[in-house]
Amino acid sequence: MPGDWDPSPAHSMPSTFSAEAYFATQPPPPLLAQEIEGVKEFVARQAAQNRNVVLVTSGGTTVPLELNVVRFLDNFSAGTRGATSAEYFLKAGYAVIFMHRQFSLQPFSRHYSHSTNPFLDFLTVEDSDGTVGITPAKRADADLLAVLTAYKRVQAAGTLHTLTFVTVDDYLWLLRAVAQALSVLRRRAMYYLAAAVSDFFLPRQKLSEHKIQSGKGSLHIEMDQVPKVLKPLVEEWTRDGFIVSFKLETDERLLIPKARAALERYGHQVVIGNDLHTRKSWLRIAADGAAAIHAKEIEEDIVSELLRRHEAWIASA
Ligand code: PMT
Repeated sequence: MPGDWDPSPAHSMPSTFSAEAYFATQPPPPLLAQEIEGVKEFVARQAAQNRNVVLVTSGGTTVPLELNVVRFLDNFSAGTRGATSAEYFLKAGYAVIFMHRQFSLQPFSRHYSHSTNPFLDFLTVEDSDGTVGITPAKRADADLLAVLTAYKRVQAAGTLHTLTFVTVDDYLWLLRAVAQALSVLRRRAMYYLAAAVSDFFLPRQKLSEHKIQSGKGSLHIEMDQVPKVLKPLVEEWTRDGFIVSFKLETDERLLIPKARAALERYGHQVVIGNDLHTRKSWLRIAADGAAAIHAKEIEEDIVSELLRRHEAWIASA
């Protein structure tokens, strides 16, 4: 928990970071304790109603290059996989903790948040009284009605809890604390790790305090490796949870071998392998057997396959 960070200079910087060394030397986000109280209340409420809960992580993490951040490294993830999957979990009756990169796509609003479907085009200014109206063609729009109905239902049921991260530090601290809070549900908890987490970072102690000056010529940065947190997640932070990780490759032939290797190394339940360029239409699931999936919205099939496996997991307790 936040308590194990020791900012004293006596704590020397490791040359490679284990998860333990990472949490001992990198500071937690300031509002962590408060956010975890909210998660605990949410989990207790869902447990009282006998609901399964899934933690969905979504979007990319940044790596700041300065303490007063002007520049940072980022990655491609838009959060489509996480936001879409969260909707299908909610539809299936799960409660969802949606832990996402600030400003990445979110369940329900994702349908209208980008320029393909800007919601301002759905509204009119009523000449008669200067109030806001709805574009006539949108009043009976079946897609909009379905999204809005599902969104209102989830709001009324209180089954969606949202948390945000920006940096890889925020992500790792939050992931550990949320996983621990959710572990009270044992087998009824699922962990769906779709976020694209940075593999390299600059430890706090190596960061320039102020904006790096460009007058000095080219910039050389040596980054440290972010510890792989799947191992402690499986072995220490969760208890009997159903853990689904993702493997992203750009060479499709590596997907199944690498997904299987991850399953063997970490001993969790499912690895979903996806290729960067075809990730929206095609993927592979590695568990006891491998399955290939492609569908209209691929997340619909992923979630229905996982629900089947989670049910079997709970039943095998
Ligand atoms: O958001 P979209 O644009 O829709 O894209 C979705 C996606 C491609 C990002 C998603 O489907 C996906 O594949 N997410 C995982 C990407 C990733 O981090 O892959 P990886 O091969 O680098 O890591 C493999 C696993 O190791 C991940 O489950 C990750 O949680 C875990 N990991 C990663 C870094 C780290 N320091 N510790 C970890 O445990």
